Amino acid sequence: MKQQLHFFIGKGGVGKSTTSAITSVHLSNASVDTLLVSMDPAHNQRDIFQKDFSENPQKIGNHLSVIEIDSDYWIKKYLKETQDNIKKTYRYESAFNLQNYFNVLQFSPGLEEYALLLAFENIIRTFTDKDIIIFDMAPTALALRFFSMPFITLIWLEELLKLRNEIYAKKEIISKIKIGKKELEQDKVKLKLEMMIRSHRSLRDLFRSRATVINLVMNNDKLSFSEAVRIKKKLADIGIQIGRIVVNKTIKKKIADEIKKEFETPKIILFPFFAKNLLGYSALNEFIDSNRESIGNI
Ligand SMILES: Nc1ncnc2c1ncn2[C@@H]1O[C@H](COP(=O)(O)OP(=O)(O)O)[C@@H](O)[C@H]1O
Ligand SMILES: [Mg+2]
Repeated sequence: MKQQLHFFIGKGGVGKSTTSAITSVHLSNASVDTLLVSMDPAHNQRDIFQKDFSENPQKIGNHLSVIEIDSDYWIKKYLKETQDNIKKTYRYESAFNLQNYFNVLQFSPGLEEYALLLAFENIIRTFTDKDIIIFDMAPTALALRFFSMPFITLIWLEELLKLRNEIYAKKEIISKIKIGKKELEQDKVKLKLEMMIRSHRSLRDLFRSRATVINLVMNNDKLSFSEAVRIKKKLADIGIQIGRIVVNKTIKKKIADEIKKEFETPKIILFPFFAKNLLGYSALNEFIDSNRESIGNI
């Protein structure tokens, strides 16, 4: 089986953490090697499973492990790598007074989603052996910024590379006049830009590929439905399709007509409303046992 990446996204409170936990337990019960990754800094998986999760995978049953992403760690790592890269690339650092730049870097917009992207890349590099990796995402705004990041960054990088090529061409002319036919040293900035373009393209392609399955979670209400429609549109703008619709907290075993109409193609799964608290591994299993009929095909 080729590895699949399932993302649970949607409005705050619709049940992304709950349905991603239930899906993970259900799949692992069927011997599918599953990794559940809590990407939302609110980290509700620890409340659902009643366990202290961390960046080290914790085994829950035979085929399920759970990880919690520590965004602060990844933000610090990103800042440190950025500083080291700049220092390596510009040896004339002191002349430009880069320290002032480093001081404000920690306040730059987009840090949180870059950190999540770094954490994500690390997960897919590390856990190639898993059949399925399930990502419990933060609410809409941050999740959409996470998916957009490779696309937005690529626009910047491609323009920067054009500029760099123009600068370099001019620099080459001047150096040729100065040093005759001697080769110019490799342009480190250009090489770095090209490397970043390659890694962002591969992320973009991965998000658009069949390996990525977006599970759009909503309830049978107007607000979460309207937000789901906006999410679908925003993701479509960057070439990402919705894989499955998860309608959670359903009372009637019927899919509302407007949901069916709006989301024609993707598979729709119903998660019934539960009256009791759903806390701990055995409670999740009880829920699965008593709702085989509706969630059996997830
Ligand atoms: N099917 C359900 N039936 C009843 N309550 C639910 C159901 N799914 C989730 N909840 C409750 O709704 C609240 C929000 O769920 P949660 O999974 O944390 O949402 P999200 O991750 O989307 O913010 C929690 O209190 C949770 O226990
Ligand atoms: Mg959550």
